Amino acid sequence: MSSTKPRILTGDTPTNTGLHLGHYVGSLENRLKLQEEYDCYFLIANVHAFTTLAEKPADIRANTLGIVKDWLAVGLDPEKSTFVLQSEIPAIAELTFLFAMLIPFNKVMRNPTLKTEIETKGLGDSYPFGFPMYAVGQCADILAFRPDLVPVGEDQEAHIEMCRDVALKFNQMYSGVGNRVPADEHHKAGGVFPVPKAKLGRIARLMGVDGKNKMSKSLNNAIFLYDDAKTVQKKVNSIKTDRPTMTSPLPEENPLSQFLDAFLPQERAAQIKADYASGKEVMDGHIKAEVGAAINALIEPMRQRRAELETPAGEEKVLSVIRSGINKANAVAEETLYLAKKAMKIDFAQRGVAVQ
Ligand code: TRP
Repeated sequence: MSSTKPRILTGDTPTNTGLHLGHYVGSLENRLKLQEEYDCYFLIANVHAFTTLAEKPADIRANTLGIVKDWLAVGLDPEKSTFVLQSEIPAIAELTFLFAMLIPFNKVMRNPTLKTEIETKGLGDSYPFGFPMYAVGQCADILAFRPDLVPVGEDQEAHIEMCRDVALKFNQMYSGVGNRVPADEHHKAGGVFPVPKAKLGRIARLMGVDGKNKMSKSLNNAIFLYDDAKTVQKKVNSIKTDRPTMTSPLPEENPLSQFLDAFLPQERAAQIKADYASGKEVMDGHIKAEVGAAINALIEPMRQRRAELETPAGEEKVLSVIRSGINKANAVAEETLYLAKKAMKIDFAQRGVAVQ
């Protein structure tokens, strides 16, 4: 049953739903392309959601369903890819514990992604033990599926780096892979784990319409994939270009300039940028209308599919998609766990096989 295509794994944490254009160009677009050529696993990190929302199980459940709706609406296809519900994959929890022995505690605590989250979510010093633990858990999410690639946004790079360290160390400690074997050759050299690579999106950091920050749900500067057409155009119109005259250039770092590259055909974007640079008269209003229309054309089918899923029949479909991914995901993750336990010499019994 296992496919010979190279594998990818990536995922989202159901701390909220509501995908925006930053998610799209940073990661979703990549997933859509990759699901055609790769054996894809898309993970809903619902256990990780408890690291910051432990007292809100109903929210986590609603967000879990919401993420799957978002994915289906964008075009991730459960016929081509496997959707993985983290809480139903016991091998992930077991690998987390085993991997926790391979990462120095201080290194986890220095992980820049965790540090940023502690700041931006205002966690202070009262976060639970499980919070930093999730970084180790993420290594297990990934390695349980032995993927080659992990498509993520820029903010996840530190986690992927840690995951690579775990894979290297595991292979060296337990699979006898030599210290000088390059990461790319670990699997060939007998390592249980291929050392996976991060794959960043076409645009790693999409600006918000405020022109100040990265597009983010919490900063009130995002265009959501499910905003209606009018709202999209209004948000694009709100971008300030700060050009003193109609012949002034458009700064490269202005969100409108970035949106040209992100959402218009390459040639058209280049032409508009050349017009701006050459001192021609360019009306921002026209350009914003063109960008708004392009964004609307991109997201219209997603909006429609998302609305269809907000029905009782849609809800049923989402639940059945979640259930159908579980068996396939467990088949792969159990195989990985068995290989890891064998390498660690703790393969006393194979799960599912009666002990004599
Ligand atoms: N931490 C990721 C995020 O917040 C979600 C995630 C969990 C993930 N496990 C993963 C991403 C494994 C990639 C691979 O976006």
